[in-house]
Amino acid sequence: MLSKKIEKALNGQIETEAMSSQFYLAMASWAETEGLNGTAAFLYRHSDEERMHMLKLVRFVNERGGKALIPALGQPPRTFKGITDIFQTLLSHETKVTGEINKLVDICLRDKDYTTHNFLQWYVSEQIEEEALARTLIDKLNLIGNDKGGLYLFDRDLEGLAATPIEQG
Ligand code: FEO
Repeated sequence: MLSKKIEKALNGQIETEAMSSQFYLAMASWAETEGLNGTAAFLYRHSDEERMHMLKLVRFVNERGGKALIPALGQPPRTFKGITDIFQTLLSHETKVTGEINKLVDICLRDKDYTTHNFLQWYVSEQIEEEALARTLIDKLNLIGNDKGGLYLFDRDLEGLAATPIEQG
């Protein structure tokens, strides 16, 4: 059974994951209108992944005797400055999410909720992967600079990444 404190903290995380999904959906849609089809496919997939992260939490809270709250969400940004801006924003968002997951893990340890602590380990690993991927993409974009050919190949590579199936955890 979840304590009220942990239930509230997990509901906060449900909101964060839902917001991430909306945020990446907005980025995907923008990229699509800019003709960056591979980037759009990658971000649409990333948005789906975040929804899966949210769903996993919803199911866990309900299974553990709590009540998952489905949040109202604010309007995500409509425009972005460019592809590098998108991935920098994505990285800084994910770094924030990692901090929130770490805080949650800490609350579980202090409250001796080892079941939720164990459940959260999946999110800890996922954050390491997501941050690493965002950093790699930013490094590549920095190398490419304003080279149109390089950007074309980058966008095509992302299309390939987007084609891999989403891990359900
Ligand atoms: Fe659900 Fe990108 O962390």
